[in-house]
Amino acid sequence: MVVIPGDGIGPEIVEQTLRVLEAAQKGAAFSLDLEFHSAGAGEHRRTGRALSEETFEACKRANAVLKGPVGDPAVRAPDGTEAGVLGGILRTGLDAYANVRPIRLYPGVASALSGLAPGAIDYVVMRENTEGLYASRGRGFVSPEATLDFMLMTRRGVERIARKAFELARTRQGAPKDGVRRVTCVDKANVLRGFAYFRQIFLEVAKGYPDIQPECRHADATAASLVQDPGRFDVLVTENFLGDLLSDLGGGTIGGLGMCPSGNLGDERAYFEPVHGSAPDIAGQDRANPIAMVLSAAMMLHWLGEAAAASRIQEAASRALSAGAIRLFPDGTVRDGTVAAGRAISGEL
Ligand code: IPM
Ligand code: MN
Repeated sequence: MVVIPGDGIGPEIVEQTLRVLEAAQKGAAFSLDLEFHSAGAGEHRRTGRALSEETFEACKRANAVLKGPVGDPAVRAPDGTEAGVLGGILRTGLDAYANVRPIRLYPGVASALSGLAPGAIDYVVMRENTEGLYASRGRGFVSPEATLDFMLMTRRGVERIARKAFELARTRQGAPKDGVRRVTCVDKANVLRGFAYFRQIFLEVAKGYPDIQPECRHADATAASLVQDPGRFDVLVTENFLGDLLSDLGGGTIGGLGMCPSGNLGDERAYFEPVHGSAPDIAGQDRANPIAMVLSAAMMLHWLGEAAAASRIQEAASRALSAGAIRLFPDGTVRDGTVAAGRAISGEL
């Protein structure tokens, strides 16, 4: 596997994650072969490119990639966008079209929403990763007087992300509130024809999954429901930009983005990273919550066929939180430090 430590808090949370992976391998029948590569804003500053050809080839060859957060607001392209981020390059480059973002309230974590038991929030945002509004990344039209970005929806793109969402729903226990296996298509079909197209194809794909309840909702109202009634959601499938927004909203209800892992899955390749950014403001202070990174590694093991080890890591993190060995501040940083959090999880293993 390829490991990209990343920028800002990346190296410190990746270090704790490798500690956890090491503990997970003890006595297990698999072993991970690590190949470290530099990519991101630091790499861009040094070489003028965020991702070298060599690292990209290594990612393509690897069975899986574990990537820390990257980016630095100071490293910018001439058009004003960030030059040190990799989302566009890796997601399209590896054709990792499904961005799987589980949103789950763990025991011992205080939600910003009141009166919720652990497990009362447990849904997955299935974000389309290679088209939508972000297909316009670096390709929009820019003049001194105006700019124009576009939103791409293709039949192939919508079909494959919709199928992934229904397949995922089949492996889950349904929404926490009513146990119904449900896939919610989130769009603005009332306003934009691209979203109407997305919805239409979603409903066509849904016919192939009679065991799963399909529903369609507008993104603005869904944002409100994710706050007011999150327990009714199971799997949400949505366009790239909306998925970017709604998954962070979800993170805000489960203890912050430091609790949000993700997988970028293609049919052949995949890479795993926390949903959050590189948080340069708290880098090197032993404050970053490593759990999103650790849970991303667990998702990676699942992808690699080591589902038992993946569950063991997830349960170890859950126990460390519920026992109070990892405690979060309201801002999402860890009270007792990043290193102590990593030790607590590997200790549980
Ligand atoms: C994410 C990030 C990225 C994205 C950025 C940093 C390119 O926000 O992974 O959610 O826009 O997708
Ligand atoms: Mn984001």
